[in-house]
Amino acid sequence: LIKTLLYEGKAKKVYAIEGHENNGKVFIEFKNSLTAFNALKKGEFEGKGEINRDIATFIFKFLESKKVKTHWVKDIGSNSMVTHQLQIIPLEVVVRNTLAGSTAKKFGRNEGSELVRPLVEFYYKNDALEDPLVTEDQADILGFCDLETMSYLKTQALKINALLVGLFQKAKLHLVDFKVEFGKNSNNEVLLADEISPDCCRLWDLETKEKMDKDRFRRDLGHVKEVYVEVLNRLKKLKEEINE
Ligand SMILES: Nc1ncnc2c1ncn2[C@@H]1O[C@H](COP(=O)(O)OP(=O)(O)O)[C@@H](O)[C@H]1O
Ligand SMILES: [Mg+2]
Repeated sequence: LIKTLLYEGKAKKVYAIEGHENNGKVFIEFKNSLTAFNALKKGEFEGKGEINRDIATFIFKFLESKKVKTHWVKDIGSNSMVTHQLQIIPLEVVVRNTLAGSTAKKFGRNEGSELVRPLVEFYYKNDALEDPLVTEDQADILGFCDLETMSYLKTQALKINALLVGLFQKAKLHLVDFKVEFGKNSNNEVLLADEISPDCCRLWDLETKEKMDKDRFRRDLGHVKEVYVEVLNRLKKLKEEINE
């Protein structure tokens, strides 16, 4: 596979790949690095790329089986995947089921406060600006995404949330919140892009309430690798759910 680096981000590398069968596709390699607070805090652990690739693939396949369109095409090697190349919409779409982290703090609520219904938020994906929250009118008027597409993103995000809450529940995990990205293909179809992994989800053990995600790294709670492995192992035990 002949590949050329297009972009190196905080957690992944994106490559163009040659060959007619790879037209319109990219190769995404998951790195071992771990960052938080807009890359102010950096770390890594051995095997993280493999674990996150496997978790992301598991979730993409599950969502595809539930008729959610994703960019996933196939896995390659131990830490990479081939996906459709998309024009990424520069919005981070966040869904919250329970208040946690900076959002709980911002509104003076305790971490763990339940919400009456899932909350969807849009952030402008721009590290230099620290991913500011944007209103729908701001995003539309500033040209990040039109209102009609945002309405679709919201519907899709809530659908993904409902499916993942159910999936993780079976793995004895509570899906507190998560971030997703979407992109458009050459037919202007909007697909789920990027990744879903413990880097971009908050997952709490249903019984012990133990944090099973990147908050262990953000807050120096230790056992970072162990919980990523545990999330993957619990999902693997649910393999049959994919074809449910
Ligand atoms: N299917 C895709 N086509 C093109 N770009 C993508 C696709 N999926 C994800 N990306 C982009 O690739 C990059 C992935 O690397 P990552 O390390 O997450 O970067 P970042 O530090 O910018 O978040 C992100 O900028 C993401 O928006
Ligand atoms: Mg990213």
